[in-house]
Amino acid sequence: MSKLYFPEDFVWGAATASYQIEGAYQKDGKGESIWDKFSHTSGKVLNGDTGDIACDHYHRYKEDVQLMKKLGLNSYRFSTSWPRILPQGTGKVNQKGLDFYKRLVDELLEAGIEPAITLYHWDLPQALQDKGGWGNRDTINYFVEYSQIMFEHFGNLVSRWITHNEPWVVAFLGNSTGEHAPGFKDHKLALQVAHNLLVSHCLAARGFRELGLEGEIGITLNLNSVYPLTDSKEDQQAAELVNDYNNDWFLDPLFKGKYPDKLAQIYREEYGELDIKAGDMEIIQEPTDFLGINYYSRALVKHNSEAGLLQAEYMRTEESGYTAMDWEIYPKGLYDLLMNLYQNHTKLDLYITENGAAFDDQVAADGKVYDQRRKDYLKAHFIKAHQAIEAGVPLKGYYVWSLMDNFEWAFGYDRRFGIIHVNYDTCERTLKESAHWYKEVITNNGVDK
Ligand code: GAL
Repeated sequence: MSKLYFPEDFVWGAATASYQIEGAYQKDGKGESIWDKFSHTSGKVLNGDTGDIACDHYHRYKEDVQLMKKLGLNSYRFSTSWPRILPQGTGKVNQKGLDFYKRLVDELLEAGIEPAITLYHWDLPQALQDKGGWGNRDTINYFVEYSQIMFEHFGNLVSRWITHNEPWVVAFLGNSTGEHAPGFKDHKLALQVAHNLLVSHCLAARGFRELGLEGEIGITLNLNSVYPLTDSKEDQQAAELVNDYNNDWFLDPLFKGKYPDKLAQIYREEYGELDIKAGDMEIIQEPTDFLGINYYSRALVKHNSEAGLLQAEYMRTEESGYTAMDWEIYPKGLYDLLMNLYQNHTKLDLYITENGAAFDDQVAADGKVYDQRRKDYLKAHFIKAHQAIEAGVPLKGYYVWSLMDNFEWAFGYDRRFGIIHVNYDTCERTLKESAHWYKEVITNNGVDK
């Protein structure tokens, strides 16, 4: 079988996030986060699950780094918990929180694994939510304060930084649909949150530059390719609006210094003006080093005048398989997305900072986890990424979501994304077949065609 080889310095990694794996939610001075509060509120998370213990990574990080080493990972993307560092979100630093990440980073470096830190993967200190959270502009400054602390302590050890993970999810699932913490249902607030997140991203990145650090910094967006169900003008318009909502609401400010015209007009008519201060749109265009992309699925849409403000309905198709999240498996969407980014949005280096799939994995009688579908999913997406690189896209690395099964937000422990299985009763880890296969991919720096 012939192989597709990746560029020599291609980065193979895996990703996690603090609230999803760490546990130790009150340990060593950590403050409460909005996800602690949300998951402790009845009815918010499936089966009443919480991140109180999660994968107990806080205590098992050494074992986890050894597993990463066994897999041959080049890099590990994890997030730092803001309320572990600043229990009140601002002011007094919790040294023990810093110490934990120092131990983790040292362990990674010792194992030859490059740490990549995400500063904000959704666990805002509850103390800041009590002051209005991301809807309050002051939170921008608090985020810059927190990011400076992290840069000062880890700037010489960590070479890749991500300010925010998926501001779309933070803004809209947290504040418009209410599925995520803090659980509000206010679309105008969500739009303001999105704006404030972008400003905070750029000010944090500016602070990074001012320290003269050598590493690279960027933001991670959840992006998808959007397709109209038919060629009709109505369906195409619906697809364009969904694309504006899902993708360009963040890409356009970052790379064009403005919000997408048509959707901005719709929102203005419906909700009035947002609080956009003079200079904000210039700040948001502050250049960074790379763009991180989380890609899971595509959106297939058709026009439906009853379907909300965008008049767009999301469709299923019998032609595709679906994951346990009910997300369509559509690898070509990754290729289309990468090409679209490169041709129409940015020439920046790109990293896939998340890609993966949830399936209902079981440990078999022989102790193994035969997750063939996850392997097939990853392989198909690696091949599409390779195709985009061949076409000239500067894709520099790929982080699989996720290193291990973990707390999948509103779905709790019910959805397993890991290439490592976690037994939630014992916290025992088992490499799934996809992990063994991924190790081969990394070793060969290539994938079978
Ligand atoms: C992303 C998120 C991850 C993970 C993944 C799978 O939106 O960044 O934390 O949950 O989706 O749903």
